[in-house]
Amino acid sequence: MKENKYDNNNFFNQYKQMNRSVNGLKGAGEWHELQKMLPDFTDKRVLDLGCGFGWHCKYAIENGAKSAIGIDLSENMLKEAKRINHSEAIEYIKMAIENIDYPKDSFDVVISSLAFHYIKSFEDICNRVSNCIVSGGSFVFSVEHPIFTAQGTQDWYYDENGNRTHWPVDRYFTEDIRKSVFLGEEVMKYHKTMTTYLNTLIKTGFEMTGIVEPMPQESMLKESLEMQDELRRPMMLLISAIKK
Ligand SMILES: C[S@@+](CC[C@H](N)C(=O)[O-])C[C@H]1O[C@@H](n2cnc3c(N)ncnc32)[C@H](O)[C@@H]1O
Repeated sequence: MKENKYDNNNFFNQYKQMNRSVNGLKGAGEWHELQKMLPDFTDKRVLDLGCGFGWHCKYAIENGAKSAIGIDLSENMLKEAKRINHSEAIEYIKMAIENIDYPKDSFDVVISSLAFHYIKSFEDICNRVSNCIVSGGSFVFSVEHPIFTAQGTQDWYYDENGNRTHWPVDRYFTEDIRKSVFLGEEVMKYHKTMTTYLNTLIKTGFEMTGIVEPMPQESMLKESLEMQDELRRPMMLLISAIKK
């Protein structure tokens, strides 16, 4: 089984305290943009890949979806999802995204929020989604932006006074594993180029309908000076596509 930091208790306890964990979707910096890219959920069958606490599954059901399946590798995350985002219409399943193998036409909508950068092959994910989503179905996901993942350490460069001088971008075309430190723990992520994200979707039978590099909302920008630095480089990439 793959290593999953979300089952490391130190890491999980830190993650549980993040704004997006405590306040759900409204605490997620990209939600104001991702929400606009989601389809009408009425009567839809939804699959959420790397569902975490299940906020997106719950949102889909509250907005008319017929059913939602949330899959995740982490026991800790799924336990919390069942506790705080329970619904008769949601099934939470412990499974690796790499292993999904649902029959043809099982889902009308496939979503994923900030999970694909933990997975080596984006092409393999797209093929698996393409196999189980209906023609005309929506595939909407977010990942850490290639500019954010390229160099690997996921930190600014600082001058001798501790000021942030710039965000390093390096090894951009080397698609491979990166070790970064997140919430005080070493975490493995897979860097992929923008070309890989976009061309793989096209190659696996999707038509792209939207792409957003979200900036923080005005209200968040006012919260702290550090937040202003989020305007200096993109952290996330959001993509919506339709299965042809
Ligand atoms: C940053 S969290 C995002 C959780 C949720 N989607 C959200 O946006 O609130 C990433 C999630 O992906 C899950 N994950 C990482 N690698 C995975 C894999 N290979 N298969 C399934 N889930 C995975 C983690 O356990 C974690 O719950």
